[in-house]
Amino acid sequence: MDGRDLVHSVRTVGFVGAAQGLRTVRAAWRRRRADAAGLPPRGAERARVPGQVREVTPGPGGGVLRFSRSELQVTVAVNGAVFWGWDGAAPEPSYALAGRCPEPDPRAVLEPDKDGGWRVVAERVTVVVSRNGAVEVRTPGGVTLRRDSPPRWWEPVGGGRARWMQRSEVSSDARFFGLGGRSSGPRLRDGAYRLWNTDPGRAFAPGDDPLYITMPVQLVVADAGTHLVFHDTSWDGTVALREGEEGAGSGHDRAGMCETRMEGGPLRCWVIVGTPARVLLTWASLTGAPALPPAWALGHHHARWGFGSEQEVRRIVAGYRERGLPLDAVHLDIDHYDGHQVFTVDRDRFPKLPALAEELRRDGIRLVSIVDCAVKAEPGNEVYDSGTAHDAFVRDASGQPVRGVVWPGEVVYPDFTHARVRTWWGGLYEERLTQGFSGFWHDMNEPTSFAAFGEPTLPRSARHGLEERGGDHREAHNVYGLCMARAGYEGLRELSPRHRPFLFSRSGWVGMQRFGGTWSGDVATGWPGLRASLSLVMGLGLCGVPYSGPDVGGFDGSPSPELYLRWFQLGAYLPLFRTHASLRAGRREPWEFGAEVLQHARVALVERRRLLPYFMTLAHLARRTGAPYVRPVWWGSPEDRALRDCEDAFLLGDCLLVAPVLDPGTDRRAVQLPRGLWYDTATEQAYEGPAQVLVDAPLARIPVLARAGAVIPTRGADGGLELEVWAPARGRTGAGLVVPDAGDGWEEPEVERYVSRWAGSRVVVEREGGGGEPPHPVRVRGLGER
Ligand code: GLC
Repeated sequence: MDGRDLVHSVRTVGFVGAAQGLRTVRAAWRRRRADAAGLPPRGAERARVPGQVREVTPGPGGGVLRFSRSELQVTVAVNGAVFWGWDGAAPEPSYALAGRCPEPDPRAVLEPDKDGGWRVVAERVTVVVSRNGAVEVRTPGGVTLRRDSPPRWWEPVGGGRARWMQRSEVSSDARFFGLGGRSSGPRLRDGAYRLWNTDPGRAFAPGDDPLYITMPVQLVVADAGTHLVFHDTSWDGTVALREGEEGAGSGHDRAGMCETRMEGGPLRCWVIVGTPARVLLTWASLTGAPALPPAWALGHHHARWGFGSEQEVRRIVAGYRERGLPLDAVHLDIDHYDGHQVFTVDRDRFPKLPALAEELRRDGIRLVSIVDCAVKAEPGNEVYDSGTAHDAFVRDASGQPVRGVVWPGEVVYPDFTHARVRTWWGGLYEERLTQGFSGFWHDMNEPTSFAAFGEPTLPRSARHGLEERGGDHREAHNVYGLCMARAGYEGLRELSPRHRPFLFSRSGWVGMQRFGGTWSGDVATGWPGLRASLSLVMGLGLCGVPYSGPDVGGFDGSPSPELYLRWFQLGAYLPLFRTHASLRAGRREPWEFGAEVLQHARVALVERRRLLPYFMTLAHLARRTGAPYVRPVWWGSPEDRALRDCEDAFLLGDCLLVAPVLDPGTDRRAVQLPRGLWYDTATEQAYEGPAQVLVDAPLARIPVLARAGAVIPTRGADGGLELEVWAPARGRTGAGLVVPDAGDGWEEPEVERYVSRWAGSRVVVEREGGGGEPPHPVRVRGLGER
């Protein structure tokens, strides 16, 4: 270490101060030393490819192909997903799968193909394996969606873990989406995307990559079809993407390329082919249904790092109430802890939290607590003492607990990859419930240790339980947040069995939706940050995580009134609608930006509240079908190329199309419409899609369009359910679903299905299948001149 490192480290941790800076430098040194001792150099490596196929053994759903230097298992599962694994890799164990691996589909058989290759023909996909180990995924009609070259491994000459590389081609018109939460999507352009959950250490903007949630999951959309590929390995890796190009005139097409390189872990993958809706349905059946948030969590949340006292919380809540602004949850950040230590309370500034929680709850407002994963390494700290007694903390190769530096100073990290540690940790939420908290916000769980230099996380040599298989941080890192979410979720189910847990987590991995959602992390205040925050929500939704949303207004600095308002208007249509900001940032209450902003923010808040039954219905549908609430506009017509390239608008469920304003000084914007008739919900003007139309986007609102025929559950003036129906196109019918649920329990409300149609000059709505009139008031819109 030299002075430069020290200066850098002090700057990195900024206001935390010089003492913290010194600790950070020490932690970084320890990290380096631990890796030097715990991870011997790999030495010389030998490359390997599968070689020629020698022998084939058909089995249920597919079979095993033996090559001269590897073997490949291919299995089609009953849910239509295809698994293949090299070198004996099986689908289990897996952190991603929701339960046991699905059964093989007995109808799928391995049969000879031409040129010495083999194929498995299933209902929705055909997989063809060439005699040298290339794997092709084809549609039932025989069109190739993806072609994997034979993989390549590099193994240490003396034996040990292999690194591997898999190169794939997709069609020249294909677009890539997914890979977790990426700031520069949702369409993933040419570049290398690392698979290593990372706290960027400052507010991020488009292009900052990787961020908190990375996933080896890509959704590829092309004219010929949509497919999802998931490489089930949690190790560090990189996915390099290059979109293809179609030859103009007499030129050749250039295929799209994808190259996945992994530092270790099994080479195994799942592929799902179908429409986007079908792909996400199968994906949810594989990796788990998204947890259903309680109804209140679909309202408006207000957070801030640094409320600082109960009085300030009361002041803010009163500010909302006095101005007629709906509010459903208040989040307390680390400043309410005692010395930044999780599962404690600063009793000087928050002396009567349970009473405050009770008071807020009477006004319909819930308290949500931040929960950081790291535990202050200080004897006498109860969580530390109890964790030590449970042998809960991550150790290094020499058996010493690994220390890092986070907000409380020197900390240790629970090893959530042990079932017994998850049980211990889950029990700690009892203290939070006693304090009156209803929801939980998991943070710093990449996991983060402030970095003076190198990576801001644990040493790669740190040891982890990995469900008793044992391993190190290289394998456990990316699933750390996922396992913490599981610990919290399962603990809450035990402690409060009658309520659906509400938690959302900064970091996570494939399958995290089983336990809750996420938010977009520390997004930089600025117009690019606004755009990035939408990219994250859409990308995560396509990876199976439907509940998320940004820090409205951005995490740092001070947004202009216009930027704040545009962010607020977008946030009002995203699953998690939360204002939040850093300790050092400007204020984020809607009244802090002048009378005009307040007036328009109120409209957005009131509209969000009106749409709550629709959001609740979307949450139920996400759980039952895997379809995200927020969907790209190509969701129903992925073959429409103009839609495929549209990144600045989204479908909210089946009924609405939201076109946020993402640039300053805008009062009109172009909107790319999918097929069908659409109404501007503000003016009721109708537009016929597919088309690009120009719509008004005054400061007062962002354009929201309703699909003709849509039946949308809303909250009526009396608080009861009301159906808003948009007139179908003449001669056509429409439809809508309602899942009436306003609670936080486990009852399963029945899905109500409605159809809308013209009856002479009237629009009528009835239960599907001739079930008669709906039991809710109906409001028909869009009847004006067309
Ligand atoms: C991290 C979180 C942020 C939180 C802060 C203090 O930066 O991402 O949301 O406010 O820590 O806890």
